[in-house]
Amino acid sequence: MIGDAQLLFPSIQTRRVQILIRSLARRLVQIFEMSKESDLMWVEKYRPVELSQIINQEDTVKRLKALVKNPLEMPHLLFAGPPGTGKTTAALCVAREIMKDYWRDYTLELNASNERGIDTVRERIKNFASYASPGNGVPFRIVLLDESDAMTHDAQTALRRIMEESFRTARFILTANYSSNIIEPIQSRCAIFKFQRLGRDVVVEYLATICKKEGVKCTKAALGLVYDNTEGDLRHALNLLQAASTMGEITEESVKRVSGLSGKAKVAEVIETALRGDFSSARLKMIELLQVGGMSEHDFIKFASDALSKSDFSSSIEALQATADTDYRLLLGANPDIQLTAYLARLAEIGRRQKGQLSDERDN
Ligand SMILES: Nc1ncnc2c1ncn2[C@@H]1O[C@H](COP(=O)(O)OP(=O)(O)OP(=O)(O)O)[C@@H](O)[C@H]1O
Ligand SMILES: [Mg+2]
Repeated sequence: MIGDAQLLFPSIQTRRVQILIRSLARRLVQIFEMSKESDLMWVEKYRPVELSQIINQEDTVKRLKALVKNPLEMPHLLFAGPPGTGKTTAALCVAREIMKDYWRDYTLELNASNERGIDTVRERIKNFASYASPGNGVPFRIVLLDESDAMTHDAQTALRRIMEESFRTARFILTANYSSNIIEPIQSRCAIFKFQRLGRDVVVEYLATICKKEGVKCTKAALGLVYDNTEGDLRHALNLLQAASTMGEITEESVKRVSGLSGKAKVAEVIETALRGDFSSARLKMIELLQVGGMSEHDFIKFASDALSKSDFSSSIEALQATADTDYRLLLGANPDIQLTAYLARLAEIGRRQKGQLSDERDN
């Protein structure tokens, strides 16, 4: 009897245990789902967790390893270089190697998608950086400002003061595609590390090891083609490789199919549209690529130059000069929207003029 009553009305304690088990089960499912998610993206699954796993940046890694051994002497750091070459990865490795198990607790990571205007710099970053040193053998906190070249001049100026004031309690690691977009006083307070585009042989070999780990068949020629489409950007290469793997094997055919959807092919389409004289459509496509697709203006002009060299305008001095001018202005930090819009307008005009000349010749 008593047993039946207990079955119908379990004690509060039994219910607590049940709730605990249910919540534990839910947490386990969450952890499982999370691990499934990171399994999905090879760029995250294979992101190095130690400096020694970073490939093809030997000098930089060597210098960083020396700094990490003696953290108290470490200055603020600025990692500059093209996309997908290991800057953010290296910054996270430095944080891990200095703070060991505590690195997550004492690292503030902010990227371009976070609000990083002057108010955030003054409040959030300043507060985090000026707390007393954490103890537990952790020498200081680390503020990782990813893509810091996207920060406004005012925010950078405010940052400069905080970097000076909080040197006892924090180190800053800034990453940027172009160090020239970082104000001089910040550059002079940082040790600068230049990241290089990764080399062909190293990337092909690395991609082959990933294919092996994933149990995906590949050919060397196909991996070479992945490299040609991504030119030393390993994030892009891994994404392309993963996309091609969904077709079964990594062959030149499967790489060609997925790279048709790549940024390079899309820029080629923009250039072709502009050269046909359709400026408005070209501009719309360009804005979509940059603002929705997140392509950098530097990649855009590089891909545009490639596309131009393969077009009927490959020897048009005017078109080549327009590309060179735009590249130069972007390098100096001019507004990308304005520069690329003017660039497409020039191409459209060149295209229309050539079309006009052809039809004049036909009429005569
Ligand atoms: N040198 C490298 N060695 C090993 N893996 C790398 C390297 N560079 C990039 N990767 C791979 O590419 C991914 C993206 O790299 P990371 O985020 O470090 O690029 P980044 O240089 O910070 O690029 P961005 O300028 O776009 O922010 C990593 O998760 C990793 O899988
Ligand atoms: Mg990065």
